Amino acid sequence: MAIRNIREIGDPVLNKSCKVVKEVTDRTRELIEDMFDTMYEAQGVGLAAPQVGILKRIVTIDVTGEDPILLVNPTILETSGEQTGNEGCLSVPGKTGVVTRPNYVKVRAYDRNLEPFELEGTELLARAICHEVEHLDGHLYVEKVEGELMNVSDLEDEED
Ligand code: NI
Repeated sequence: MAIRNIREIGDPVLNKSCKVVKEVTDRTRELIEDMFDTMYEAQGVGLAAPQVGILKRIVTIDVTGEDPILLVNPTILETSGEQTGNEGCLSVPGKTGVVTRPNYVKVRAYDRNLEPFELEGTELLARAICHEVEHLDGHLYVEKVEGELMNVSDLEDEED
């Protein structure tokens, strides 16, 4: 188990396009395990490989804390509906902003044996899939924020 350093906004690695994974080597498997460890340690619901400085199309997601999802080379096949809500990113610490996303997403991806599968998600899972897949093309949610990017601490004050 290894926790990797999470790159933050301003780091050029976060604005690059990632390469398709063509084979899963021992190094790839180690990266995947480290990504899950790093995501859980940081209490995030998703992490993309460029966030730990690796330009490969690999995403980890877990929106419940009990349902680890690995997406290698993900492609969004279908979206529908709409949801508008607060979003955050481990690479933009302490910040949050309102983003509109599809409420339903169907994605095709590959597992750790490069076997293809399809996954459907709604609500938070749909949001996480869209957010993480965009990381693989060098995009951060802050580009899509409606209104101001806020401090998480200000939002918590508002809710109190
Ligand atoms: Ni993110």
